[in-house]
Amino acid sequence: MPEQSLSLAQHYHERTKYDPDTIQAKNHPLDWSRQPVPFKEYKIGMPFGLRSYLETRPEEVADPDEQFWHRLARFFFFSYGITGVLPTESTPHYFRTVPSAGGLYPAELYLISRGTQHLPAGLYNYQTRQHALMHYWENDVWDALRDACFWHPALDGTQLALVVTTVFERSAWRYQDRAYRRVLLDSGHLLGNLELAGSLQDFRPHLITGFADRAVNDLLYLDDQTESAIAVLPIADLKQLNQHLPLFQTAIASETKRNYSSRIPDGQLLDQLHQATQIPVSDRKIPWQRPEVTPDRPDKYNFPFCLKVETRSQPILWNQDLTGLEETLIKRRSTRSYNGGELTLNELKALLDFTYHPEHYIEQHLDHNPDYCDVNLVETFIAVSGIQGLEDGCYYYAPHLQELRQIRFKNFRHELHFLCLGQELGRDAAAVVFHTADLVGAIEQWGDRAYRYLHLDAGHLGQRLNLAAIRMGIGVSGIAGFFDDRVNETLGIPIDEAVLYITTLGRPRRGG
Ligand SMILES: Cc1cc2nc3c(=O)[nH]c(=O)nc-3n(C[C@H](O)[C@H](O)[C@H](O)COP(=O)(O)O)c2cc1C
Repeated sequence: MPEQSLSLAQHYHERTKYDPDTIQAKNHPLDWSRQPVPFKEYKIGMPFGLRSYLETRPEEVADPDEQFWHRLARFFFFSYGITGVLPTESTPHYFRTVPSAGGLYPAELYLISRGTQHLPAGLYNYQTRQHALMHYWENDVWDALRDACFWHPALDGTQLALVVTTVFERSAWRYQDRAYRRVLLDSGHLLGNLELAGSLQDFRPHLITGFADRAVNDLLYLDDQTESAIAVLPIADLKQLNQHLPLFQTAIASETKRNYSSRIPDGQLLDQLHQATQIPVSDRKIPWQRPEVTPDRPDKYNFPFCLKVETRSQPILWNQDLTGLEETLIKRRSTRSYNGGELTLNELKALLDFTYHPEHYIEQHLDHNPDYCDVNLVETFIAVSGIQGLEDGCYYYAPHLQELRQIRFKNFRHELHFLCLGQELGRDAAAVVFHTADLVGAIEQWGDRAYRYLHLDAGHLGQRLNLAAIRMGIGVSGIAGFFDDRVNETLGIPIDEAVLYITTLGRPRRGG
């Protein structure tokens, strides 16, 4: 096989870019009769119903054993539960606490128990419609999990672990090869919810995204042609003193694949990239590092003589006992259209504060240092079209110094409409947030698996933006379809920055 100059992840990224000249040819008509069902069903297994525990708040339950079930039920519900049903001519469409590209919900959530007084050892699948855990495998797999995760220290001190998987076809059915980006963004949103829903119930998910893929898939009995693990999350129960664990690195590098055919047929790119990003099973020892407490990294871009606007803000308030967060998770919906109205600069500042400064939320009992894969690799640019008190244009957001730095000076509404594939959300939003990353640099560090890490982190940041917006009564929607290169050209975003994800923010149209 020839050595290519681009790694397979770069090749995939180039090949799946949307471009105005080729997008028509890439669009295939959808075969609705083949749309995958977004739920897994088990013929055998023992269901552990969680629904009845939702009726009473955990703090109203005195018995700690009973309380555990109430906490667990709420943890699953707020993370990935069903919060809306839309009747259709065939099967109803169920909405969940997380958004999902096209409402296709490729992510599945599994629980692995080491064997506790509440949950016998084995494997459980979270059945969203029933709000139940299906115990489908009764043997202890914890040692196999530790092996598969190269003895990550967070698995030493915990009894339960979640695994987020993705069923590719649920999304690829519609988005073909580009679905890989979307399933990772979706999973990232779910990681954001797991982090926050965990804080609500004193569970602390420790993220592991560096694991031997085949080994995790095998232990869950996944058919890894169709479904694959994306993240493993040992869950520390913070009600147990011995489960207050330090933080550890979450990611490890894969290989960087350069020996591939540049003529991979369309329809096979997703699978080939996923294979290339895998970490093989081995008995190598990983020296899992503690992350730096205060990363001393300067903001990436500084532009001399540009307008700089400081963004420090009062934190968003989530109420006593975080009831405001619970309400927000339940009522979150993606805005379907904006009325073109303005947001205030203070609103934008508060959205940025919650998204990028979790340390400001320590007094509200939220996690002050949630796990990401490597969030310092993700940059933020904001196209401003309607923020009262802020000149229109495109800005780089410098998270450490907390300031916006203007790089372009015009109203981009017209162009944003085009860049977002003609979606009015882009045109009518007051601000459009772009998450980007230097793909080449990220691959140098993490191999082709960087592609997963960047999209997971972008989705996680997107979820924080979503929840902050909903809390403040601001409209919000993700957008994963855009003319990649045109975004950089039009908005002045440096060409090395691969655009990962868009989040639009604005005033919702009535009923939108
Ligand atoms: C990764 C991602 C990409 C999305 N892309 C778009 C998009 O391009 N256009 C759009 O209108 N909505 C988009 N959405 C919003 C979904 O359509 C929405 O989440 C889904 O229909 C479920 O509805 P809900 O978010 O209101 O629960 C996206 C959501 C996610 C998570």
